[in-house]
Amino acid sequence: MSVAHAKVATTSKAAGGASGAKPDPRKLEALRAAAESAMRRAYAPYSNFLVGAALLTPAGDIVAGCNVENSSFPSGGCAERGALFAAVAAGHRHFTHLTIVTQAGEPTPPCGMCRQALVEFAPALEIASITTSGAEARWTLSELLPHPFTPRSLHHS
Ligand code: THU
Repeated sequence: MSVAHAKVATTSKAAGGASGAKPDPRKLEALRAAAESAMRRAYAPYSNFLVGAALLTPAGDIVAGCNVENSSFPSGGCAERGALFAAVAAGHRHFTHLTIVTQAGEPTPPCGMCRQALVEFAPALEIASITTSGAEARWTLSELLPHPFTPRSLHHS
């Protein structure tokens, strides 16, 4: 079964992370592998900056995405939102971990638009960014987006 067609999410805390116990290291390795595979499928002929991203659900399902560029530049999209949209389309609404893989010199965090997209579903998300040369950085989404606009913000008017 392809990681992009994983079964729908449950409320299980099996994957651990921000909403449960520490995840199985093998699951985190599978998340990294899924992100790296997706990176190798990225379509980035304009920037040559290949990005793969993979989300882990509380039930242990993994959904990956890559950046997809376009000759009309704004029509392209980031790997992180690609993974998020594929995951939601597959029935997932909760995520504990995000792993990003690039070939950059330093690990790169998700862009601002992706942070905002992710916080809607996973305010306690734990993020790892890994380069193919082995460098790694970790953040929580709340560190990267400390004052988010959330669904509750809409009720504050
Ligand atoms: N990109 C991502 O996929 N994720 C990010 O968080 C930042 C940037 C992509 C978009 C574009 O295809 C390329 O990287 C260069 O910006």
